[in-house]
Amino acid sequence: MKVITSISELQHHLANYQQEQIAFVPTMGCLHEGHLSLIRKAKRLADIVVVSIYVNPLQFNDKNDLKHYPQPFEADIQHCQNEGVDFVFHPENLYGSTPMQVALHVNNLSQSLCGLHRPGHFDGMITVVNMLFNIVRPDLAIFGEKDFQQLSIIRHMVADLHMPIDIIAGETVREQDGLALSSRNQHLTAEQRQIALAIPQALQAVVDTWQSNRNIQHCLAAGQHILDTHNIKPDYFGIYDEQHLQAMTSFNTDDPIPVRVFIAATIGSTRLIDNMPLITKDV
Ligand code: PAJ
Repeated sequence: MKVITSISELQHHLANYQQEQIAFVPTMGCLHEGHLSLIRKAKRLADIVVVSIYVNPLQFNDKNDLKHYPQPFEADIQHCQNEGVDFVFHPENLYGSTPMQVALHVNNLSQSLCGLHRPGHFDGMITVVNMLFNIVRPDLAIFGEKDFQQLSIIRHMVADLHMPIDIIAGETVREQDGLALSSRNQHLTAEQRQIALAIPQALQAVVDTWQSNRNIQHCLAAGQHILDTHNIKPDYFGIYDEQHLQAMTSFNTDDPIPVRVFIAATIGSTRLIDNMPLITKDV
């Protein structure tokens, strides 16, 4: 495995693999089983696996969040080594000394869910993912469903800008008790972590209710009850269609479309997000 910080050096190496399939897993480091599941999928699907570790300042609307973003680099490298990654790309800085004159902007897809609560976040995210795609030029790239809005925006970028890259989704990896793995979980105290369990429990309550009842308000009420019990006031908690990420108030069982239940909530000072798919085929 090679750890590379320079763009030209990475491209020099990757030029040797033009005939092979290159899979790319972009990350901000602090790797956990969620990231590793994406890397394992990349290993199964391609010949060469590139992982990037870059904490992208452009996507942090909260500079305090950026300052406290954990960066256990040695452990990250060890994880990549253990998983058989071929190249770790770890640039020091991807932005020049002057402000960018050209960047990407997300339209309607950032007008819901986290987009409403984190101004500029998705523009910064998609700008760096575009940059990284241009640098690595992968055949396929893998992203977690944990960040479903991010995954969706990236799928749309690739389609809208005609980029020849397959976007593959990886399922959310959870702790045994249901909490979705996140680099931010380590900011939770033991007590806050217990409270945070209400997040996957509320989602699961919606999923369970959905099995027998396709009434959106009824399903959400089942989850809301759990949130209320733990005094959690979410930024958002709702059922959205997967295609446009629009909040739904009713569901047409004659024309079922893929939908998910989404939540974001701050526990203590840690903002957590999660989502689960609702099975739409007929009961
Ligand atoms: P980061 O938060 O490090 O996440 C890297 C990838 O891991 C993303 O695709 C994310 O969805 C996935 N991931 C995180 N937690 C997961 C879990 N519990 N199960 C499965 N996958 C999980 O997302 C980013 O970095 C950045 O925005 C990035 C795309 C690298 C651009 O800067």
